[in-house]
Amino acid sequence: MKNDVILEAVDVVKHFGDGGGWLSRSPVVQAVDGVSLQVRRGETFAIVGESGCGKSTLARLLLRLLTPTSGKVMFDGHEISGTKGAALKKLRGDMQFIFQDPFSSLNPRMTIGKLVGEPLEVHAPDLSAQERRDKVAELLRKVGLRPEHAGRYPHEFSGGQRQRIGIARALASGPKLVIGDEPVSALDVSVQAQVINLLGDLSRDLGLTLVIIAHDLGVIRHMSDRVAVMYLGRIVESGPTAEVYAKPRHPYTQALLASIPSMGGKPEDHKANVLGEMPSPSAPPPGCRFHTRCPFAQAKCKTDTPVLSAAESDDHRVACHFWDTLDTSAPLAATTQQSKAAEARFALYRAATEGGTVTHKTQQTTERT
Ligand SMILES: Nc1ncnc2c1ncn2[C@@H]1O[C@H](COP(=O)(O)OP(=O)(O)O)[C@@H](O)[C@H]1O
Ligand code: SF4
Ligand SMILES: [Mg+2]
Repeated sequence: MKNDVILEAVDVVKHFGDGGGWLSRSPVVQAVDGVSLQVRRGETFAIVGESGCGKSTLARLLLRLLTPTSGKVMFDGHEISGTKGAALKKLRGDMQFIFQDPFSSLNPRMTIGKLVGEPLEVHAPDLSAQERRDKVAELLRKVGLRPEHAGRYPHEFSGGQRQRIGIARALASGPKLVIGDEPVSALDVSVQAQVINLLGDLSRDLGLTLVIIAHDLGVIRHMSDRVAVMYLGRIVESGPTAEVYAKPRHPYTQALLASIPSMGGKPEDHKANVLGEMPSPSAPPPGCRFHTRCPFAQAKCKTDTPVLSAAESDDHRVACHFWDTLDTSAPLAATTQQSKAAEARFALYRAATEGGTVTHKTQQTTERT
């Protein structure tokens, strides 16, 4: 089983700011505080949690764009925290990133051909100019764009198309693993489903491992094999996606599931639904970090930190002292209205995903500009 793991975080911590000294104005921000996870080769692994819980910081740690304060990250069997020089260049080719905002992540002065060809210059320097053009055309086709688009500029494309360009760029170096940081949250719901569908197709066709970050459990339900739910810098629940959705064991996961925004809903609505505001990561509550918002909190929760440990199965893990004794029916029953809206949204994703016939070509024609 161990050989199956392509990416692993072991008790990774990232604190920002020095917080010390009487001249210091910035308190330490505990953005990521002791995260361990394993991503298996070929799977789609989702990381979900509210804005500010540390998802982007964790993504950057996994990609070695940030150095951890402590703990380690292993990729393909090697610790990467100290990787430098030629090994780091190779690592950059093996692990790629899809950004949240397709509007600001593409240089507006570069043509699409140049944007997608640039990583090839770095990672496949031996290609001739013609071979590189052919490869760019192939990549554009793969993501549902036309090779003739190579001469155009980013502003000539819609948001969904720009995200496809970002995906083509990420694929250019032939990565083993791609991390998408909320890759569809800036897009219209209808376009979100198309881009999600494309990512699913690509991961299957290319045998890619995908790590997808989302603030909304609805987005990843039908595309991820396993999911980790983050709260204030820590993972509170993880497991096979279907199991976590069917039997959420952590009160925070239950609240997130009950508050998935209705179709076309904004992230702000979703935030308001989850039992008030999240505390600051520079002053996280002691004990269980969720205790200030948890309807089931008891005295022990304020002092003792729950450890992420096996609940339903070895693979379904929960960090809650009382996961097996909680009667969660009351707070969930109060949200039937929201659950109905969530179901409607899931139906949309299911239609897009299970239709299966939405090929890259038809995506190209269904894309709105
Ligand atoms: N470079 C940084 N310096 C200081 N604080 C940061 C930095 N990057 C992120 N943070 C803080 O860390 C916390 C987690 O941020 P982030 O990882 O972006 O969360 P998410 O992606 O889940 O919204 C936030 O409080 C954020 O303000
Ligand atoms: S440990 Fe306590 S506060 Fe934390 S989620 Fe469980 S019941 Fe709620
Ligand atoms: Mg983020």
